Amino acid sequence: MKKLIIASLLSAASMGAMAETCSVTITGNDAMQYDTKEFAINKGECAEFTVHLKHGGQLPAAAMGHNVVITKTADVEAVSNDAIAAGAPNYLKEGDERIIAHTKMIGGGEEDSVTFSTEGLVAGEDYEFFCSFPGHHAIMKGKITVTE
Ligand code: CO
Repeated sequence: MKKLIIASLLSAASMGAMAETCSVTITGNDAMQYDTKEFAINKGECAEFTVHLKHGGQLPAAAMGHNVVITKTADVEAVSNDAIAAGAPNYLKEGDERIIAHTKMIGGGEEDSVTFSTEGLVAGEDYEFFCSFPGHHAIMKGKITVTE
């Protein structure tokens, strides 16, 4: 009986872990920070991947907006510059094909999620996630490791 309980606990734990591998929750704050510095995407396990963004602060999006934009590391600067040029409130260039996925720009107390196909991601390539609000991406950024 004891073995059975342990087995079912292990099974529940591994199911939870599997679900976790195909998503990440990133929380931003009023001090222009994410709580996450990096995450990994395993293409073999995850045909799709979901990024949940939460803004744990209180400031409105116009003052302390946060989103999550995913691009190749090589594209971060250019996409960020074009995003600033695109202006408020979204700070993203419409139809920018260098953007792999992005959430909405949100303010304190809000949240948003985006689910995207991992098919076009290349294992070993350098990817980053960052906030495209002006001045934020120097601090609000992190690394994404893609594996097969
Ligand atoms: Co931000």
